Amino acid sequence: MIEVCVVGELNLDLILYGLPKELTLDRELLASGLALTLGSSSAIFAHNLSMLGTHVGFIAKTGEDPLGQIAAERLSEAGVDISRMKQGSGKTSTGLTVVLPYPQHRYILTYPGTMFEMQYSDIDMEYIRLAKHLHLSSFFLHRALRPRIVNLFRQAKDAGLTTSLDTNDDPENLWGQDLLEVLKYVDIFLPNDREAKKIARTEDLSQAINLLAGLVKIVVVKRGAGSTICRSGDKQWSLTPPAVALVDDIGAGDSFDAGFIHLYLKSAQIEDCLAFANMTAALSVTKEGGTESFRDSSVVQRFLKHQWSLSGRGPWPLNET
Ligand SMILES: Nc1ncnc2c1ncn2[C@@H]1O[C@H](COP(=O)(O)OP(=O)(O)OP(=O)(O)O)[C@@H](O)[C@H]1O
Ligand SMILES: [Mg+2]
Repeated sequence: MIEVCVVGELNLDLILYGLPKELTLDRELLASGLALTLGSSSAIFAHNLSMLGTHVGFIAKTGEDPLGQIAAERLSEAGVDISRMKQGSGKTSTGLTVVLPYPQHRYILTYPGTMFEMQYSDIDMEYIRLAKHLHLSSFFLHRALRPRIVNLFRQAKDAGLTTSLDTNDDPENLWGQDLLEVLKYVDIFLPNDREAKKIARTEDLSQAINLLAGLVKIVVVKRGAGSTICRSGDKQWSLTPPAVALVDDIGAGDSFDAGFIHLYLKSAQIEDCLAFANMTAALSVTKEGGTESFRDSSVVQRFLKHQWSLSGRGPWPLNET
């Protein structure tokens, strides 16, 4: 039986490391390293949450091509139930993201492919109703589904599920106000600093948090290596992630979400969920892409237990060995 149902997008990330500082036009530019990893916010979240030990089901649409197959296999290997995934029969292929990471910034080039095409009718609502929790990532990339995301969340709430949402960036930079209607049915909202301010239409993060906290039960604002802020009602916490050696921060936000939801569903204290999420996010930046550092569960457990003991937060909050 699944605990968390993720509705989202599925693609691979092609990451080129060590490119020249200047991306000069019409020259052959050489990269010193390459990684082809499971990409897309929803899939990284589902993969890493499953590797933490939560039972996860995944709903997405791929094309009839090897990219979609490879991505689905990666999820399945991590124990994610992919039985409700749909394959499109049209010309559109599975999406692909090309990432060019630099020390402070990265280029992210995405061909959305089938992620623009998933519709409400592709979603098995009965399957979702059997879960405890619904999560959706990449609100602005679900072109066809977007007008009915509000129905999805409303139905999940009616069925007694808890819900979470991570919008990620809006490629059109419009930050449509239809999102505010969806937030009425969201328990845990997980934007980063920039997204929180864009959605609240303010440059002031405190104002943004005030506004968002009036709409959802818990708002968590991710701020890279800086302290993460969490607000629930009139309580607010701010915790710095552990210092680790950074390889790249691709998928750090999704790994954060996975850690937070994993502990939240175990009825942990909100402050512990925040601390744990900072640790799963920090783990993610220690290897290429968003899922590489989660592929061996014994390594994951060792890292997290070590970080938890360093944090001085008391006993390990999970029962599993
Ligand atoms: N250099 C770092 N060292 C340790 N932890 C980090 C570092 N960078 C990010 N993190 C952790 O990852 C979390 C998410 O980071 P970030 O602010 O990049 O989110 P995001 O922009 O939503 O990421 P994504 O691109 O995955 O959507 C942070 O809140 C923090 O816990
Ligand atoms: Mg993000």
